[in-house]
Amino acid sequence: MATNITFHPGSVDGAERSELLRQRGVTIWLTGLSASGKSTIACALEQHLLHLRKFSYRLDGDNVRFGLNKDLGFDEKSRNENIRRIGEVSKLFADACCIAITAFISPYRADRAGARELHEKAGLGFIEVFVDAPLQVAEQRDPKGLYKKARAGEIKEFTGITAPYEAPENPEIHIRTDQCDVPEAVHTIAEYLVQKGFI
Ligand code: PPS
Repeated sequence: MATNITFHPGSVDGAERSELLRQRGVTIWLTGLSASGKSTIACALEQHLLHLRKFSYRLDGDNVRFGLNKDLGFDEKSRNENIRRIGEVSKLFADACCIAITAFISPYRADRAGARELHEKAGLGFIEVFVDAPLQVAEQRDPKGLYKKARAGEIKEFTGITAPYEAPENPEIHIRTDQCDVPEAVHTIAEYLVQKGFI
């Protein structure tokens, strides 16, 4: 941590910003195996919210690794750092009164708990969504051929095969993507946002 730094508060606090923009910030944190449906649900949810004229923005694992996190791989430390940064970035979006939608495997409970804590300490909403597809189903889908490569030993530390996935124990929302379609998943999340007064 750097020394000799000072935090500068703005002239508009969070409550006033929310009132002026007529929106409360929140992060919707999608977690699940590769090919569980995170990115598909995130895209459809973002579209749904934008069409309601809600300020919403999606942060996706693959995409963020082309830029901000292009220095990170898939060993445990890199994944920890990936999620630490996304926790911080999504918090900034939520602080700006955006509905941030993150779609990262985020396989470690402690990392997800860290992202939650960052938000809660700042008085911002954090909704963990377990995008749950059994490994067998995700492996059957294999849209990018990654499971096949992992089974062949061509990708090391692949989540669910040779690297762990720690499923959420108490997510706000649990979506079984082998049992519901994308519009149903979006509806479930949107209903939750209505219930909690975010939209
Ligand atoms: S993590 O675990 O949260 O840091 O991963 P994330 O940033 O979400 O990136 C996951 C996407 O990277 C591709 N990929 C891998 N995933 C898992 N394990 C290994 N070893 C790996 N190598 C590449 C893959 O396309 C993941 O995207 P999704 O959408 O989850 O399939």
